[in-house]
Amino acid sequence: MPDTVHVLNGPNLNLLGTREPEVYGRATLADVEAACRAACERHGLELVFRQSNHEGDLVTFLQEARGSRGVVLNAAAYTHTSVALADAIKAVGLIVVEVHLSNVFAREAFRHHSYISPVARGVICGLGIDGYRLAIDALATAGGTIS
Ligand code: DQA
Repeated sequence: MPDTVHVLNGPNLNLLGTREPEVYGRATLADVEAACRAACERHGLELVFRQSNHEGDLVTFLQEARGSRGVVLNAAAYTHTSVALADAIKAVGLIVVEVHLSNVFAREAFRHHSYISPVARGVICGLGIDGYRLAIDALATAGGTIS
C-alpha cells in the first residue's frame, strides 16, 4: 500500500481527447493513464487510476486511498465547489497533489478558487498531461509522510 499511488479524476475527464481540445489537448484519459503507469513503473510504484463523474464516488475513492503513498487529484469542476472533497482529504490525512491540465488562473474567475489547494501538498496546473507525471515524481520522493 505505501508503494501505491492513486490517480483520481473528476467529472468530464472521461471525455478527454474530444472535450474542448483547444483547452485540454488531444490526449485521451487512456493516454493519461498510460503516462501515469510509465511514471509509476520508473519509480517502482503501483498505480490505481480512477475516474468518476460523481462527487460522492470521489469521496469514496479518497477514503479507499488511505495507507497509500499519496493521491494525484484532478477533481475537475468539483475543485471549485466541493467542501466534501476538501473534508475527505483532511479526514484521510494523505498527501494530495492537485493537478489541472489547463492553467485555471488564465481562465474564468470562478476557476481561480480551489477548495482543494489549502489541503493539498502542492498544485500543478497548465502543463497538460505532463502535470500528472510531475505529480507522481513528487509523490515518489515525498516519503509517504502525512501532509
Ligand atoms: C480542469 C480545470 C477545471 O476548471 C475544469 O472544470 C475541468 C478540468 C483541468 O484539468 O484543467 O474539468 O480540472
